Amino acid sequence: MKMTVLKSAIAGLALVATGVMAEEGTVGFEINGDIPIVTRVPAAAHLDGALSEAISGWEYRDSSTQAMQMDDFDNPAMLAVEQAAEVWNTAMGTVGKSCADCHGDVNESMIGIRATYPKWNEKAGEVRTLAMQVNNCLTENMGAEAWKYDGADMAAMEALISIPSRGMPVNVAIDGPVASVWEQGKEMYYTRYGQLELSCASCHELNYDNLIRADHLSQGQINAFPVYRLKDTGLVTTHGRFKGCVRDTRAETFAAGSPEFVALELYVASRGNGLSVEAPAVRP
Ligand code: HEC
Ligand code: HEC
Repeated sequence: MKMTVLKSAIAGLALVATGVMAEEGTVGFEINGDIPIVTRVPAAAHLDGALSEAISGWEYRDSSTQAMQMDDFDNPAMLAVEQAAEVWNTAMGTVGKSCADCHGDVNESMIGIRATYPKWNEKAGEVRTLAMQVNNCLTENMGAEAWKYDGADMAAMEALISIPSRGMPVNVAIDGPVASVWEQGKEMYYTRYGQLELSCASCHELNYDNLIRADHLSQGQINAFPVYRLKDTGLVTTHGRFKGCVRDTRAETFAAGSPEFVALELYVASRGNGLSVEAPAVRP
């Protein structure tokens, strides 16, 4: 039923049931043989049954792409991570300090951080993404220029900061001071955008597991972001991916780092509560 609606909404786009469901019993994998990753968990209660399970995008990729993510030696994102590790230790800006001067070893001080963002920042009185937090340190704590929100420097730093959280469950708070932003994100998720009048849910809630053009549709989870895209030979941030998906509905997109995308990120992150942090993952 729902598929028929989508089909008629997007005449040009072939949408086919794949029958390529993930194998029953495969609920995860290991990175480097020692970091267990859970790829399916019961959906969070706040989804009110909209999904029965939250499923990682890893399950929808072919076995060669999956394999790249299972070993850091094969994961092309690791080059950017190494570069970011150098940046972490480099003094920048007028204050002349490095990230390490204040935060110490990234693999110790950033344990668990990636799993809880976006989150409320009490001092600033706003919901902050990891990228906002990094830019805040650059401009306020280091006297340096902010990085482009979805640029290569930021993506690499987000990847580096994610590493010590790999395997930890995504655990984004949705209540208290963030509740209204979360509601805004939820509303966006179900709003039909563009000439094609498609919402995020049209594709990622009602049609995951189906093929759209040549793509095997996932739930559009962000537990694996930033991801290395083989097609672009580079890292793509969450907001970079959002932009691409909104454009696919032939709508004007919001800007990376805009309050709209911050709200959407909070909501989408919360749809994956319980999935393992996988970033930086690999995508075609
Ligand atoms: C002069 C000290 C200083 C430097 C240099 C600095 N930070 Fe920070 N950073 C802080 C403080 C203080 C906080 C917590 C206060 C806040 O949230 O505003 C923080 C918070 C953060 C957080 C959020 C952590 C959390 O617990 O949620 C991240 C991520 C972060 N910094 C990344 C960086 C990165 C990346 C760099 C280098 C580009 C950097 N910081 C440089 C002082 C610094
Ligand atoms: C026309 C269908 C369509 C719509 C509408 C759509 N997307 Fe996507 N999206 C895709 C396709 C195709 C992919 C690539 C295959 C996959 O991972 O599902 C994708 C991938 C993603 C991914 C990457 C998932 C991963 O694990 O790599 C995220 C995140 C995402 N979409 C979020 C969104 C959000 C948020 C919206 C609403 C603003 C949205 N999408 C709207 C088709 C769509």
